[in-house]
Amino acid sequence: MNILIINGPNLNMLGIREKEIYGNNTYNDLVHYLKSLAKMYNVNLEVFQSNSEAEIINKLHEAYFNKVDGIIINPAAFTHYSYAIYDAIKAINIKTIEVHLTNIYEREEDFRKTNVIKAACSKSFYGKGFISYKEALLYLIGEENEIS
Ligand code: DQA
Repeated sequence: MNILIINGPNLNMLGIREKEIYGNNTYNDLVHYLKSLAKMYNVNLEVFQSNSEAEIINKLHEAYFNKVDGIIINPAAFTHYSYAIYDAIKAINIKTIEVHLTNIYEREEDFRKTNVIKAACSKSFYGKGFISYKEALLYLIGEENEIS
């Protein structure tokens, strides 16, 4: 199974940005964690990060032509306003799961409660740090019963 993980803007700053919210783990720690999960569950995984909306859209289109089986996306701040990413997910017709490290519905800023990506995705996992990604992966590979 070929799975693509897309991480949006500022996630490369994990371990530096707002540690009281996102914790001390770095983006590299996240990539290592995801790669070890892929090994454990025997899936081919590509992990992509970009701060650019256009690059994320291009990557989604590429996934269609590369016949990717499933996508996990943390659109980061684009979650709250990118209709272009919503349209791109709808366009490619690949099962896509949305993830967030934090619980966006319980954050301080009101704008985080607006989610324009959710409706294009099959499921959302959020609020559990790196574990949100694990839950999304288990869901994608049909091992939902392993989600605690
Ligand atoms: C985030 C939540 C977003 O609101 C924020 O803009 C991010 C990260 C999360 O993973 O919790 O950059 O997507």
